[in-house]
Amino acid sequence: MPEFTHQGQEKKEFVRKMFDDISPSYDFLNHFLSLGIDIYWRKIFIKKIEIQEGNTILDVACGTGDVGFEILRKHSVSITGVDLSPKMVKLAQEKTKKRNLNNITFIEGDAENLSIESNSIDCLTISYGFRNISNYEKALEEFYRVLKPGGKLGILEFSKPKSKVIGFIFKLYFHHILPRIASFFSRSDAYRYLPESVDFFPSRHDICRKIIYSGFKRAEIHDLTFGISTIFLGFKVEK
Ligand SMILES: C[S@@+](CC[C@H](N)C(=O)[O-])C[C@H]1O[C@@H](n2cnc3c(N)ncnc32)[C@H](O)[C@@H]1O
Repeated sequence: MPEFTHQGQEKKEFVRKMFDDISPSYDFLNHFLSLGIDIYWRKIFIKKIEIQEGNTILDVACGTGDVGFEILRKHSVSITGVDLSPKMVKLAQEKTKKRNLNNITFIEGDAENLSIESNSIDCLTISYGFRNISNYEKALEEFYRVLKPGGKLGILEFSKPKSKVIGFIFKLYFHHILPRIASFFSRSDAYRYLPESVDFFPSRHDICRKIIYSGFKRAEIHDLTFGISTIFLGFKVEK
């Protein structure tokens, strides 16, 4: 039986409060619990999007900003990060100040209702945020709206590994070990919500179908590390 059954506005409020509460230990736990592999996955994700110099990037569900910072290490672009949780946004802004960066801005906002002009973004990224959104279709419609013709969507998300053996080990770690370790440092239900939200996340092909239904002309799937994480790409038709 699922423990987290929130939907719609109730899910949004739950998710916002949860990320506010876990924000102080978010970066540390991310790297610690994944043994640093999350850093590698974000790097591959950014490479796959094939960002061009001068592009305008929107990083939705930006959290504490790591995708944006990694993009700026490699590319000369302008980036806006948007996140539902005010405390995650604040941490991203503090990290920006510390790094002395000026072509990246972080704002509060909702993926389902972006305060961004239509047809204004070259690449839209969302890393480990899509699963947390209440209405996937509404968010994808927004992503399509804000992207320029020829623009690209990149989603990085946890998946279910295809191999039964890896799937078993992953499930054991995700459901039984990770929540116990995390409970020493952070709000414990957040790390029970994580594996459950992955279990109930639509299949790779369902996500691709949703991308196409929202208007994208083509979608691609790229599995990482036995399919523990997956990159989805969506391409908006050129004018
Ligand atoms: C697991 S964190 C990922 C953060 C970051 N992208 C990363 O790779 O570390 C998920 C983030 O999604 C944000 N989020 C959830 N629902 C959202 C929504 N509807 N709109 C914008 N952000 C949302 C949460 O506040 C949280 O910061």
